[in-house]
Amino acid sequence: MSSLYIHIPFCHHKCIYCDFYSIAKHSPEKMLDSYVDCLIEEIKQRKDFIDSSLTTIYIGGGTPSLLSISQLERLFKEIHHNFDTKDISEITMETNPEDLNEDYLKAIRDLGINRLSIGVQSFNDNDLKMLNRCHSSRQAKQAITNALNVGINNISIDLMYNLPMMNIDSWKNNLDVFLTFSLPHISCYSLTVEQNTMIYKLIEQNKMILPEEKEMLDEFDLTMEVLKDNNYIHYETSSYCKKEFQSKHNYNYWTFGKYLGLGAAAHSYDGQQRCWNENDIDKYINNINNNYLNNNNKELLTNQEKYEEYVMLSSRLMQGLNEEEVRIKFPEYFNHFKKNMLSLKEEGYFDENYCLTTKGWHLQNEIALNLML
Ligand SMILES: C[S@@+](CC[C@H](N)C(=O)[O-])C[C@H]1O[C@@H](n2cnc3c(N)ncnc32)[C@H](O)[C@@H]1O
Ligand code: SF4
Repeated sequence: MSSLYIHIPFCHHKCIYCDFYSIAKHSPEKMLDSYVDCLIEEIKQRKDFIDSSLTTIYIGGGTPSLLSISQLERLFKEIHHNFDTKDISEITMETNPEDLNEDYLKAIRDLGINRLSIGVQSFNDNDLKMLNRCHSSRQAKQAITNALNVGINNISIDLMYNLPMMNIDSWKNNLDVFLTFSLPHISCYSLTVEQNTMIYKLIEQNKMILPEEKEMLDEFDLTMEVLKDNNYIHYETSSYCKKEFQSKHNYNYWTFGKYLGLGAAAHSYDGQQRCWNENDIDKYINNINNNYLNNNNKELLTNQEKYEEYVMLSSRLMQGLNEEEVRIKFPEYFNHFKKNMLSLKEEGYFDENYCLTTKGWHLQNEIALNLML
């Protein structure tokens, strides 16, 4: 299984919490045009990094829905020309609600995009204003309706909890609105505050106050409960889906599949080596134009790093960790794994199948650290 990721690092403007690599542009058409030229050039230079037969594509950002239809057409033409695309089952695009009118949606559907991840964040207008989002709750609902109207049914939305001013009731209201659309997938993220974001400064200056940790854990528990009651499968820490609607692309990342990442700040993995492009658009463009990609940043993972990634990623998944897999792939760490797993199980963090319990989900990172070396 090989996946292709394409990063579009432009946004209408910067949201106060966002630490993803993207720059805010008021009219980015020209820049996007030359950026797409570079992506096309990068496909030519790096297509041999993974098997030519692709199974999933993910266009993420930033805000990929800033791309015009002709820019997307150019990109897809090049992808079909350079890769074997007949076995692709999922092409996802991250989109912002304000961009999703029916004409745009029909055109991207006709290009083969069959899954949308819509950045709703909240159905509450006060939250959206506070986060400096460009859309309203009404626009978010309209965007979902438009997508369904044009026949794109494989839709995921992103919602965030643990927001300043949010409480368990307003979070429950968000989940209730989501449920009215009967969508097959949702990602629910607890707000994290990264140092170089506006929200970090506002919190430091006491202009914003984060909810207590207990409130965040209550919101997490409520999410699990409400979505489970409505037949969603909690298949990864933040991701819930109806049967057979898990994100195939993300699942490939979480289970160490191979992927090629194109664009500024994009990461790639060929099973052994991880490499990443500059997280600076000008440097990225310069690298591509000078055919410098062979010099991009790379690292060979040591076995210890592979084991620790396995522990970190697998503990986030519904199926949990697999003793046999650890024994076969990481024999040198097997005793350490067994010993620590035994005490974590005794303390009630893992169940018999090495899956996190509710108590375990609450301390997930600490627990994964416990299994590391
Ligand atoms: C790559 S981002 C952006 C996608 C799209 N541009 C948007 O904002 O709607 C994917 C998702 O990560 C989540 N996210 C971004 N920053 C976050 C943060 N600091 N804490 C928690 N979730 C965050 C948001 O839900 C966002 O939709
Ligand atoms: S959250 Fe999305 S729209 Fe907002 S700045 Fe980050 S990538 Fe852009």
